[in-house]
Amino acid sequence: MSTPLYSIPGSPAPAAAPPPAPPDPIGAARTVNEVLAGSRIEAVMDELDRDLVGLAPVKSRIRDIAALLVVDKLRANLGLVPAGRTPAPSLHMCFTGNPGTGKTTVALRIAQILHRLGYVRQGHVVSVTRDDLVGQYIGHTAPKTREVLKKAMGGVLFIDEAYYLYRPENERDYGQEAIEILLQAMENHRDDLVVILAGYKERMDTFFRSNPGMNSRIAHHIDFPDYTPDELLQIAERMLAGRQYRFGEGARAAFAQYLGRRTRQPHFANARSVRNALDRARLRAASRLFADRDRVLTEAELTTILPADILASRVFAAAAP
Ligand SMILES: Nc1ncnc2c1ncn2[C@@H]1O[C@H](COP(=O)(O)OP(=O)(O)O)[C@@H](O)[C@H]1O
Ligand SMILES: [Mg+2]
Repeated sequence: MSTPLYSIPGSPAPAAAPPPAPPDPIGAARTVNEVLAGSRIEAVMDELDRDLVGLAPVKSRIRDIAALLVVDKLRANLGLVPAGRTPAPSLHMCFTGNPGTGKTTVALRIAQILHRLGYVRQGHVVSVTRDDLVGQYIGHTAPKTREVLKKAMGGVLFIDEAYYLYRPENERDYGQEAIEILLQAMENHRDDLVVILAGYKERMDTFFRSNPGMNSRIAHHIDFPDYTPDELLQIAERMLAGRQYRFGEGARAAFAQYLGRRTRQPHFANARSVRNALDRARLRAASRLFADRDRVLTEAELTTILPADILASRVFAAAAP
């Protein structure tokens, strides 16, 4: 309960005029280009296109949503707003897809776009699951959910595996209480909070059938497809390059072989499995180099993943006939 030295409790607000609000760069925009220039969202969209492999349908949906928001800004600038209401469109979304298909990554970019267009004040993402919202005992859920909402205000609340909030088999489940508070916030704070529900497609469909109120508040449903083997390889190369590594001779082919086996195993998680496999390959590469203590290591050696670093995976051992 320490009070900062410079604050004087109970002192009247200073009489001086508040500093002038910064000029709103898109408040006077009349063309799409003026909104784009004022908001700098094109940079985010270009990054999204460039940094993320594949995801063509997702990228085009995001462009559509961005176009809608830009045009909405132009409409608002001309005063085309429903009488007596804030011009806040419903922006809540649902991202369905298997693990590791880029849902969280895209949510971060969406938050940036929403922020740059002025739909949310800060543009941060608060990522939660059921346990962050629902308490174990009576009376614990509401404060927990409200606390999370408070943190997310001004940004995006990303609820992973949102369907776990609803457990019909348990009559007294507190998840329902969290859902109701969320619904209220989604309606009342839509000018400063965007909720993104994420999870497996089928389970989310079931969840929406039992929670039509939630479904009706979701404006955009976006499905994230699994990556093709070729996209997974490209993702691997991007990830390596991002850490100043590369596949040495034959290592790309070895990794393609690895993926061929890994994708058929349980718990395969698309790009996340790629990241984990590469982390293990880097570990093996490090052990390999560590063994030879007196040798001067070249840049090439310190950045190259060899086929052996991949073929040592137990994915290859397990499937031996
Ligand atoms: N299209 C992509 N291109 C490059 N990296 C990706 C792509 N999709 C996902 N990743 C990476 O894979 C990992 C898992 O992605 P994430 O967004 O957490 O997936 P999800 O939320 O769907 O489980 C992250 O490290 C992310 O950077
Ligand atoms: Mg995720």
